[in-house]
Amino acid sequence: MLNLCRTEDVAAGEILRVDPPNHVPLAVYNLDGKFFVTDDTCTHGEASLSEGEIDGEWIECPFHAGCFEIATGLPTVPPCAIPIRSYPVTIKIGAIFVEPAGD
Ligand code: FES
Repeated sequence: MLNLCRTEDVAAGEILRVDPPNHVPLAVYNLDGKFFVTDDTCTHGEASLSEGEIDGEWIECPFHAGCFEIATGLPTVPPCAIPIRSYPVTIKIGAIFVEPAGD
């Protein structure tokens, strides 16, 4: 399991980029106290989604304003068409963990 950060590191409505060793960058989201993790890099280009804007349950990419649903990683607004990976989140004693990507 990757230990990404603590819950208090990500305020409600905020996104934190985490760079785990030997892993792609990840984005940790706090949506009204519920935490989600996706890959940080957009599938349309090299944008860092943690620099984008949360719009309800979607993340808007800072480069071309495409969107993904944060909980599932599914693209919701073009030009995004390929899902981003989303990770089931485990919280233990205030720390946020995910299983690393398998490939
Ligand atoms: S790089 Fe994200 S929408 Fe183009």
